[in-house]
Amino acid sequence: MEPIKVGLLGFGTVGSGTFTVLRRNQEEIKRRAGRGIEVARIAVRNPAKARAALGDFVNTVDVGSDFESVVDDPAIDIVAEMIGGTGIARELVLRAIAHGKHVVTANKALLAVHGTEIFEAARAKGVMVAFEAAVAGGIPIIKALREGLTANRIQSITGIINGTTNYILSEMRERGLDFATALKQAQALGYAEADPTFDVEGVDAAHKLTIMSAIAFGIPMQFDRAHIEGISKLASIDIKYAEDLGYRIKLLGITRRTERGIELRVHPTLISAKRLLANVEGAMNAVEVHGDAVGATLYYGKGAGAEPTASAVVADLVDVTRLHTADPGHRVPHLAFQPQSVSDTPVLPI
Ligand code: NDP
Ligand code: HSE
Repeated sequence: MEPIKVGLLGFGTVGSGTFTVLRRNQEEIKRRAGRGIEVARIAVRNPAKARAALGDFVNTVDVGSDFESVVDDPAIDIVAEMIGGTGIARELVLRAIAHGKHVVTANKALLAVHGTEIFEAARAKGVMVAFEAAVAGGIPIIKALREGLTANRIQSITGIINGTTNYILSEMRERGLDFATALKQAQALGYAEADPTFDVEGVDAAHKLTIMSAIAFGIPMQFDRAHIEGISKLASIDIKYAEDLGYRIKLLGITRRTERGIELRVHPTLISAKRLLANVEGAMNAVEVHGDAVGATLYYGKGAGAEPTASAVVADLVDVTRLHTADPGHRVPHLAFQPQSVSDTPVLPI
């Protein structure tokens, strides 16, 4: 069967990471998806920029700046939006849906602010908008909330869900860096948003919290109801005082059921240094979910950066591809992942 064709909108940190992972792991991905996944076209703001991630494919993949023509191209089956923001990204995602195309996006700002409009449009057209990468980078938290915890009445979600701020706080505490230098490093590592005030003022965490809250509690996206406070007013001395008292300061996103309704808040929090969440350092994220049946569960992993985020984007591409395979086994992931009767990979003797 022909590979499914993806149009990548944006080829920065996440877009290029997605291309790299798709190429490197193409055999495994094809086996699991039931069909190859090929990036057929890429649209960027400046096509003249060097794109190291393209490697040997630099002359074979179409890279241009005409975003609409990629979205309108009948040969493109899936549109992967890796641009960011709520401007052109919103227009292109709605346009792709209007053409009946599935969309994969890493854009939490877009979903937290325009999610209701986008999911309504997708429902009307019967297409999928997949967004695992939009929350907590490589941690499959959306799948956990939707699938693994589906039996539960969720009581609360508490998380370190912004890699940039966690990296800054770690660097300030562990290496004594000042805020501005730590932020510059986070930007150089590809963790920060195009506008890093979204990170440091807690807005990015609130976007992610809004999305998790909507899924966990079955409510509309309510970003405008979130209390948001970032870390920009923290000084090194605050971090030191906290440490002297046996605490760490972490930017937490918290959403929980209360008697009066659902609470949504993001703010710096003192956490006892003995707790697991206090020991999540660098760009790592951690999300603690409480369900009435399961109790407390904890999810941990890289929350930002090219390949951790690509891991989630590609998982979504595989999910969408499975809907378009000839083999019905692949449409049911449990069948595709059953233990095989034959294997090429030897198991070592005891
Ligand atoms: P980058 O800034 O690295 O890349 C953005 C890409 O989109 C670039 O290819 C750029 O083109 C293009 N682009 C940017 N603005 C415009 C515009 N106004 N019009 C047309 N093209 C534009 O961003 P990231 O890859 O870091 O982020 C992409 C998305 O993924 C965002 O929604 C972000 O929130 C999300 N995300 C990011 C993570 C990360 O760790 N970085 C993790 C999880 C999600 P050009 O290359 O020519 O400049
Ligand atoms: N800027 C975001 C962060 C990227 O630092 O967590 C991952 O969503």
